Amino acid sequence: MRQRTQRPQCRFDPLLLVNAAHPLPKVPWPDLTAVDECYPDVLLERRVAGLLGACIQAVNGQGQIVPVSGWRSQAEQQSIWDDCLIQSGETFTRKYVALPGCSEHQTGLAIDLGLAADEIDFIRPDFPADGVCGAFRRRAADFGFVLRYPAGKEGVTGIAHEPWHFRYVGVPHARLMAEMGFTLEEYVAWLRECHSQAPLRRQLGLYEFSVQYHSGTTQPVLPEYGYSQRSRDNCGGWIVTTWR
Ligand code: DAL
Ligand code: ZN
Repeated sequence: MRQRTQRPQCRFDPLLLVNAAHPLPKVPWPDLTAVDECYPDVLLERRVAGLLGACIQAVNGQGQIVPVSGWRSQAEQQSIWDDCLIQSGETFTRKYVALPGCSEHQTGLAIDLGLAADEIDFIRPDFPADGVCGAFRRRAADFGFVLRYPAGKEGVTGIAHEPWHFRYVGVPHARLMAEMGFTLEEYVAWLRECHSQAPLRRQLGLYEFSVQYHSGTTQPVLPEYGYSQRSRDNCGGWIVTTWR
């Protein structure tokens, strides 16, 4: 009898915080796929790629919103960092390029988007606040994406305002973060402080969901009711989200 080949266990931790203080942990590579067949080199985690495509379609952005940079290997992030240092200097590089090993592009959950043009800047693509890009920004949270580096939060994220960089965190987290004006750093800290004991409970459309923070490295046990998802936060804990 033929042995059934098992797909390797893939990483999917949508709330993983990756920044200069929280480098990417040593985990298996994400399950990657091209975001758009016209851009075969721009890869994202498979589920995230599907949701990005759905969000672009929802605003009729096909052909106008271009994926510029998705998943990056450590070597690619290093080469972007090195090239940027040479071309634009250290101050600029530290503002717009994460240290190799500390870029959330390395998770497969982050994407840089640009407005279609003959020439698109790879480090700082144009993604205007109005038109189709503005429409994408307004719908992004419905598909689980947040603007990861907003203006005014440079001191929290350690990165300059990047209107082109979106990060998948999933629904309901993207909605909650947008509602409360939280960056991922602030959201994870808030869940840890306020929802380790009592879960956050909310209604979203037909569903009720709860979000609870669990400290420690052991995987928390999922509730038996509803549909649950657990994500590491890369800060020493787990976030369990349950819908029912
Ligand atoms: N541009 C973002 C910060 C990165 O390099 O990951
Ligand atoms: Zn980016």
